[in-house]
Amino acid sequence: EKKPIRFDDQVVLITGAGGGLGRAYALEFARRGAKVVVNDIGAARDGAGNSEGPAAQVVEEILAMGGEAIASMDSVADPDGGEAMVASAVGTFGRLDVLVNNAGNLKDVSLVKMQPQDWNAVLDVHLKGAFCVTAPALRVMKNQNYGRILFTTSAAGLYGNFGQSHYAAAKMGLVGMMQSVCIEGRKNNIQANAIAPLAASRMTEDLLPPEVLENMDPATVAPLVLWLCSSACGESGSIFNMGLGCLNRVQLVTGRGVRFDPKKAMAPEELAGMWPEVLSMEGAAAYSDMNAFIFGLFS
Ligand code: NAI
Repeated sequence: EKKPIRFDDQVVLITGAGGGLGRAYALEFARRGAKVVVNDIGAARDGAGNSEGPAAQVVEEILAMGGEAIASMDSVADPDGGEAMVASAVGTFGRLDVLVNNAGNLKDVSLVKMQPQDWNAVLDVHLKGAFCVTAPALRVMKNQNYGRILFTTSAAGLYGNFGQSHYAAAKMGLVGMMQSVCIEGRKNNIQANAIAPLAASRMTEDLLPPEVLENMDPATVAPLVLWLCSSACGESGSIFNMGLGCLNRVQLVTGRGVRFDPKKAMAPEELAGMWPEVLSMEGAAAYSDMNAFIFGLFS
């Protein structure tokens, strides 16, 4: 007799929900009673162009199954777009309980060949986009004294990947942002987490063989998103990988390191002599925020 995870009377905003992972999340939230704002500019994979088709079609699917949804074609990369999509959630449905920052684009190119416009195109959607939507959403959530925010990071950000220095920078930037939003939202019952999904979508369909892609249905990532965004879940500040049949937690941990006299700089040779000890991760610890780390150094 597990308690069903439901979102009745809750309003969920999902960016980039016109296809791929975002669409899978939108359908599952709607199935479980949420009123959904389906945001998507309907861009090509590289972020170029726009079309009202994808967002409108997902709204159609939700209405056809008896759910409630509206489409938003505002761009996450534009501060006015972020304000507008939050305003349409509140204007249409009266509140905003859940934000899933999911919109993304892809423009792989090695750093030696990367042009400023490649860097900007990727950072604008993933990182600035999360700012443009999360800031107005957080203001609404603080007034309600409730909120759940999800950030979409990536294995490319957590571990690095060839041709994705811009994408990886944005994705790791989202982890930093998530950790700070977790701290800023704490006293208002607002929780933030990050997920690194693996799913068959137009982002991955030409990168992997069919026998791998058939184990990457975006619908299989949705349960984690729904759980983390439910009122029953108390998790905040955490990072998870999910996909290909695996769900695990990722944590930034800090080694014990070495101690030195802070009143004088040591010689680099002395430091080099301690290198194995510096590298050791034995007894590594995680910290809940920056102050816990800094004050931990004195103990
Ligand atoms: P997708 O390309 O199907 O979905 C991204 C959506 O974002 C598209 O529908 C696109 O139109 C929309 N979008 C692009 N720019 C936008 C803007 N300025 N404003 C609003 N919407 C915009 O790809 P997928 O795979 O579903 O990706 C979803 C998220 O998951 C992305 O953040 C991606 O980086 C991340 N991700 C996906 C992985 C995968 O294996 N598919 C792996 C790791 C991360």
